[in-house]
Amino acid sequence: MKALILSGGMGTRLRPFTYSMPKQLVPVANKPILVHCLENVRDIGVRDVAVVVGDRSEAVRAVVGDGSAYGLNVTYLQQEAPLGLAHAVSIAEEFLGDDDFVMYLGDNVLAEGIAEPARSFRAGRPAAQLLLTKVADPRSYGVAEVDAEGRVTALVEKPQQPRSDLAVVGVYFFTAAVHEAVRAIKPSARGELEITDAIQYLVERGDRVVADEYAGYWKDTGSPDDLLDCNRLLLGRLGHAVDGEVDAASTVEGPVVVEAGAVVERSRLVGPLIVGAGSVVRDSELGPYTALGRDCVLDGAGIGNSIVLDGVSIQNVRGLSGSLIGRSAAVRAGEAAARRLIIGDHTQAEVAA
Ligand code: TTP
Repeated sequence: MKALILSGGMGTRLRPFTYSMPKQLVPVANKPILVHCLENVRDIGVRDVAVVVGDRSEAVRAVVGDGSAYGLNVTYLQQEAPLGLAHAVSIAEEFLGDDDFVMYLGDNVLAEGIAEPARSFRAGRPAAQLLLTKVADPRSYGVAEVDAEGRVTALVEKPQQPRSDLAVVGVYFFTAAVHEAVRAIKPSARGELEITDAIQYLVERGDRVVADEYAGYWKDTGSPDDLLDCNRLLLGRLGHAVDGEVDAASTVEGPVVVEAGAVVERSRLVGPLIVGAGSVVRDSELGPYTALGRDCVLDGAGIGNSIVLDGVSIQNVRGLSGSLIGRSAAVRAGEAAARRLIIGDHTQAEVAA
């Protein structure tokens, strides 16, 4: 089996981060989402992976390289524009050949891995196998209708009146039968070649399309709140490892990771949290549920439930929560009474009224 991992797209909902990095590289628990995907694919025994990249391909290549660091053999496929998930399959046709494959959206987090669905796909080899999960409001997802035998009878994208509460998760298993379906479909009203249309084509042709419910934690990380939710969950699984220097005047509660080369002085750390290598935390309160990247400087800071990327400095500002702070950003207390913001395009700031 091969894998096709999608790391193109626009990422409009994650601006301003996606002005400087593809959304799949935003870290949760200090690891890019794309790396979580690669590890899940490796864990089902796949070696040959194609990563579909868009505008920011250089950044993806810089992190993933030839894949050997993850035990994979990675090929890159450049998509000239985000023309749809089925379009991504079409540009991978030569790479995939006649092989079965798993298509994995590079912004989806499946915390329990994909071993169980991979096993059932390999056992039954249906033309397509979807993963579904129950959601509270199916109207913003692809929704599947499934009969008593687990066969998919219909797929509807963002239905106004959903006929089930089973949303389609961004991991699909296919045999080579999907290529004919992709060739047969036309772009949708929004101008994209939709994978739901290709799957619907297989259903209507009478091919076997089945669905398994995904029992584990799943998140499609489209928005900052999705990322924070994932961050909380994955931090909770990191365990406890203090390899950096934490002085005697600091306190540590709960599971805390302090990477080698990080320094913590006169601070309170409340896990789950991670402090990245090279970061310095002084006279601060950190956590819980906070991922601090590498080479950050926190001085007189207070921050919890947040994702802080590399090279950030926070000085004399407390009470930060639910925040996503981009690379090398500086947050500090000002001298004037006025609130001063120097923030980029499409940034969101919430300050106390
Ligand atoms: P979307 O969630 O549609 O991603 P997006 O980048 O368009 O996000 P936004 O709505 O915020 O603008 O796509 C799902 C995943 O598939 C995501 O990881 C991007 C990737 N993708 C491609 O690689 N190529 C494509 O043509 C499309 C549509 C998505």
